[in-house]
Amino acid sequence: MAYTVPKLADYSAEALDKAVAKLLSALETEAAAVASESDWNTFRDRWLARKNGILTLVNDLWLKAAPKDAKREVGQRVNEVKARVEERVAGVKPERVVSYTGSGASVIPKLAVAATGTSGPRVIIEERPLDITLPGIRRPMGAEHPVIKTMNEIVSVFRNLGYSVEEGPEIETDYYNFEALNFPPNHPARDTQDTIFIAGQESKPLRDRLLLRTHTSPVQIRTMEKQRPPVRVVCPGKVHRNDAPDATHSPIFHQVEGLAVDTNITFCDLKGTLDHAMKALFGSSVKTRFYPSFFPFTEPSADVQISCIFCGGKGTRDGGPCRNCKASGWIELLGCGMVDPNVYRFVNYDSKKISGFAFGMGVERIAILKYGVDDIQLFFQGDVRFLEQFG
Ligand code: PHE
Repeated sequence: MAYTVPKLADYSAEALDKAVAKLLSALETEAAAVASESDWNTFRDRWLARKNGILTLVNDLWLKAAPKDAKREVGQRVNEVKARVEERVAGVKPERVVSYTGSGASVIPKLAVAATGTSGPRVIIEERPLDITLPGIRRPMGAEHPVIKTMNEIVSVFRNLGYSVEEGPEIETDYYNFEALNFPPNHPARDTQDTIFIAGQESKPLRDRLLLRTHTSPVQIRTMEKQRPPVRVVCPGKVHRNDAPDATHSPIFHQVEGLAVDTNITFCDLKGTLDHAMKALFGSSVKTRFYPSFFPFTEPSADVQISCIFCGGKGTRDGGPCRNCKASGWIELLGCGMVDPNVYRFVNYDSKKISGFAFGMGVERIAILKYGVDDIQLFFQGDVRFLEQFG
C-alpha cells in the first residue's frame, strides 16, 4: 500500500516519533525504487509538489492542525522531515551521460539505466550513434613569439655560415660574467651593466658570488673552456639588468652572442661577417659602419651601426628629419671587437697563435626595427592581439 499522510489524533512525543518514522521509511523505500529518469520525476512530484505533495500535506495535516501548545514541537519535526525529503530527492537524481556508440545502426536516443546501489547517484547512459561526418574541434593556432622568432632568425643566419649554438646559465658567477671577461674587481666598466646580484653572499669570495647574467658574453668563456680553437659559436639567451622598464628598456631581454677564434682571424673578417648578417636580417641594401667603442673583453672594440631602414640612410623622411635615426641616417645596433688577449689567458688559449672576434646584439632591439614596434613592453605583456600578428 502506498504511503499516505495520516491525520494526527495525538501530538505526544511518542506519537510524533511514530508518524515521522513511518514517513521516513516510506521515503527510503520509494527512493530505492527510483530506476529511471521518469521514476525520479514521479518520485519528486509525489513528495515535493506544491499541490498535494507529501510535504505540503504534512504541513497542513500536522503543523497547521496542531494545537497551539504543540506547534513548536511539531514545527521542529516537520522541518527535519522536510530537510530529509529534499536530501533524498536530490540524492537519487540520475546523472545523464552521453555515450557515443560506434555503429550508426540503432535509432536513438535510447535510455539505459545503470543503478549504482540505492544510495549513490544513478547514471543514465544515453547512447547516441557517432556521426563521424560532424566537424572536429578546431584549436586556435598559436604563433611564435616575435622575440623568439627574431632570435631564431639571427641564429639561423650564423648557422648558415657554419656557426654552432652554445647556451649557458642565466644565473652566473661574478667570475664568468665579469672577471674572466677582463672586468677586474671595482673596474668602472662594471657600472655600465646595472647588475642584479643574489642577496646574502657577502661571505663568499667575489668571483663565486651569483648574479643574473647581464649579457651572454660569459658563454664565450664557458665555450673556450670546453673546446680548443677553431671556435665558431652563437649563444642566444636571456639576460637581466637593473633597468626601470620604459618604451626602450626592460629588466629582462635577450641577446645573441657570437664568437669566432682561429688562426689569422682579422678585423676584416669581423666586418665582413657582420655586414653579411645585417644584410641577411634587414635586406641587401642596408649598409654598415663601425664606430669606435669600448668593451673590456675586446680590443679594439666597435659599435655597429646600420643605415637607417626607415629613411634609407638619408636622415630625412616626408620632408622632415627622420625620427628613427634622429636625422643621422644611422642606427646603432650592436657591440663587437677583436677578443682581448687578456681573455685568452683565462681559458689557456695562446694569444700568439690565435686571434678572434666577438659580437653581441640585443634581440628585442632588432625585432623592434624589423617589425616597426614602438614599445619594448609589448613583447612582455602577453596581449594576444599584439602577439597573434606574428603568426
Ligand atoms: N656583451 C656586450 C654588451 O652586452 C656586447 C658585446 C659582446 C660587445 C661581444 C663586444 C663583444 O653590451
